[in-house]
Amino acid sequence: MVQRIERSVIYMEKWALITGASSGIGAELAKLYASRGYNIALTARRADRLADLAMKLPAKTRILVHDLADREECEALYDDVSDLNIELLVNCAGFGAVGKFETLDLDRQIQMTDINCVAPLILTHMFLKDFKYRDKGAILNVASSAGLLPGGPNMAVYYASKAYLTSLTSAIAEELRAGGSSVKIAALCPGPVDTEFNDVAGVKFSLKGITPAYCAKCAARGLDNGEVIIIPEEKIRLLSFATRFAPRRLTVAVTGLQQKRKI
Ligand SMILES: NC(=O)c1ccc[n+]([C@@H]2O[C@H](COP(=O)([O-])OP(=O)(O)OC[C@H]3O[C@@H](n4cnc5c(N)ncnc54)[C@H](OP(=O)(O)O)[C@@H]3O)[C@@H](O)[C@H]2O)c1
Repeated sequence: MVQRIERSVIYMEKWALITGASSGIGAELAKLYASRGYNIALTARRADRLADLAMKLPAKTRILVHDLADREECEALYDDVSDLNIELLVNCAGFGAVGKFETLDLDRQIQMTDINCVAPLILTHMFLKDFKYRDKGAILNVASSAGLLPGGPNMAVYYASKAYLTSLTSAIAEELRAGGSSVKIAALCPGPVDTEFNDVAGVKFSLKGITPAYCAKCAARGLDNGEVIIIPEEKIRLLSFATRFAPRRLTVAVTGLQQKRKI
């Protein structure tokens, strides 16, 4: 009986589940939503990083160590939080790699597609059903400004993966809107953000990055305002608008030059 009461208390508290919480944008989103009264379920592969962050958060936390490039681990993550009232899912885990398509390791590119595309697909599919049932909840898919541009030579799979996530999010948002649902979904599309992303990708940015804390703040504000595509910086907003009018071949070529400068 006591156990049942405790479980129902847990159920009433609102929780955010944040993937990629061990670093960068995910860690900052965890801090921000903890300060807004959410309890936080943190997931990534590096347990020590998650434990360090959890200790600093002014909230209840649950640490869940998973490699989300694996479908079964995505499903296990969903099961791990089945007793929690998840009201916000943040799909933030992801990485990039720079180099010519055929020279980059194939397994690494498949892993990138699994983590950047398939994991958000699986988790969004599972949590959206729950959110729609309750007509409450929000999903933030961390895409990229790369997802707004047609192709990205020298970073082809990364750009394609983020275009997939941006497109998927826009389509689901329209299905929700047309169905009169209160559930929100948005794609966060930042330009460069100063995180460990570059170390993982083995590159340097050719443009100055924003801080992950600022990026997280813009993301939360955009989600509050019901924006579907959230672009934190004015210059990236202008760039993505301008590319709509430029010939596709030209945009792809300029994007490729920009990526080449990173190598
Ligand atoms: N930084 C930028 O300039 C930028 C710009 C636009 C979009 N983004 C996007 O923002 C998201 C977060 O990146 P970030 O910039 O914050 O980089 P980051 O500091 O390198 O963080 C990446 C996060 O993803 C997690 N992750 C990577 N592979 C994983 C896997 N197989 N399973 C589970 N978790 C995994 C990492 O955790 P573990 O290593 O502990 O597993 C880490 O927490 C990514 O989706 C990225 O594409 C970044």
